[in-house]
Amino acid sequence: MSEEIPTQSSPQEFENAAQILRDSKHVICLTGAGLSVESGIRPFRGPGGLWTEHGEPPMDGYQRFLRDPASAWRERMQPEGPMKAFSETLLRARPNGAHLALVELEQMEVLRCLITQNVDNLHRAAGQQNVLEIHGNATLLRCIDCLERRPRNAVQIDLDHLPPRCETCGGIIKSDTVEFGEPIPRDVLEACMQQGEQADCCIVAGTSATVYPAAQIPLDVLSRGGHLIEVNLYPTEITQQCVISLRGPAAPTLARLTEDVREHLKA
Ligand code: APR
Repeated sequence: MSEEIPTQSSPQEFENAAQILRDSKHVICLTGAGLSVESGIRPFRGPGGLWTEHGEPPMDGYQRFLRDPASAWRERMQPEGPMKAFSETLLRARPNGAHLALVELEQMEVLRCLITQNVDNLHRAAGQQNVLEIHGNATLLRCIDCLERRPRNAVQIDLDHLPPRCETCGGIIKSDTVEFGEPIPRDVLEACMQQGEQADCCIVAGTSATVYPAAQIPLDVLSRGGHLIEVNLYPTEITQQCVISLRGPAAPTLARLTEDVREHLKA
């Protein structure tokens, strides 16, 4: 390994994890907020977490949106408090080494599909091709009826005629970001569950693995005899079910893992 990285995991653990990735037939990855911490975006739980500091938000955000979509739109166009700062960091954030390492694993045809809980678009910005955004994408708008998604800047928002309506079906348009209380859109949920059924290995990176149905995906892989490999700064609720848990910041840890996989693919 060239330079030392801040990890508590041994070279042997990295080597073993790389071996499992190379020997697996269908590797997927579930990522969470920890992937984007090194891009300047706060996590939600654990040290420095947004919910750690401000408490979990109400679980009925979607129901409140449906009750008064126009007010909800106005509220979300001028976010206040912690969500204002969060929205501003999303606009400034750029992909970090963790995102780039996962793109390389996909290019080496080791990683088949990446499922992210993050709405920051950083996996796509890094060049990841096979991405499923189970909690949506903050740069997109979605019709709640036909699920058609459009880039935010492709929809004319008229403040006197809120909420915007879908040109295709007339349905209400909202941010593609899945609200608390909102069902995961059926198209992306089905695709994620299919990946969980096909995979024999799941990398669980930068997630507390506590929010369902996303957290169910690695458990489905495990229940069919698959392997879980964790990348996290701290132990989580899923650490015990992982065959290996690589402890350290996502960027250097995933870069080191990808380097080990690359070295052995050459051999
Ligand atoms: N490198 C790797 N892991 C990190 C780093 C880092 N630099 N910093 C934090 N972590 C880990 C934390 O230890 C934690 O396990 O990332 C995880 C972040 O967990 P959460 O904040 O709970 O984020 P996530 O798992 O993505 O939350 C799931 O909850 O609030 C909802 O919709 C939101 O998509 C989010 C969902």
